[in-house]
Amino acid sequence: MRSFIAMLKQITPCLPARTLKPLVFVLGVCISTTIAAQGIKSGEQVYTQACFACHAMGVQNAPKFGDKAAWHPLLKEGQHVVTAHGWVGQRGMPARGGRADLSLEEFARAVAYMARAAGGNWKDPDTVMLDHIRKEENERIEELKAKQ
Ligand code: HEC
Repeated sequence: MRSFIAMLKQITPCLPARTLKPLVFVLGVCISTTIAAQGIKSGEQVYTQACFACHAMGVQNAPKFGDKAAWHPLLKEGQHVVTAHGWVGQRGMPARGGRADLSLEEFARAVAYMARAAGGNWKDPDTVMLDHIRKEENERIEELKAKQ
């Protein structure tokens, strides 16, 4: 870090160290945010690591990967609904696929990846889709509470 400040000093000889230090800090934040953004797993990565175990073979009637007939009703139900139901969990499907470390975005990417493999055109979720999924998640939780 010190040599980095020295280098910046060379480039900008008129700036005092007082000005350079916050600059270095801001740069550091930018770099780590970029790394964090890249740290989000792709749908394929999540599927392989967390969903494959059940969805490849259709354990306990899990909709199988690439099985158009099994995914057809789900594709019709809609991306936000199906993603939210999987995220909350139902019957043999454990909440979040049993992986508490996954973010909603990563989970949703894996669902979209499976849907595409079965002929759907679901995209990796953007912020609008993630909002829809969260709303559906809340409704689902209320629904399940009411049934208890
Ligand atoms: C322990 C086995 C298991 C694992 C691991 C698992 N699933 Fe499932 N999943 C199931 C089963 C069983 C069903 C069918 C549930 C039912 O009867 O409705 C299912 C259903 C689903 C559904 C359909 C929900 C609906 O609306 O009917 C989605 C979406 C889903 N899983 C996504 C995932 C994703 C994404 C992962 C990985 C992050 C994952 N699953 C991991 C067993 C699993």
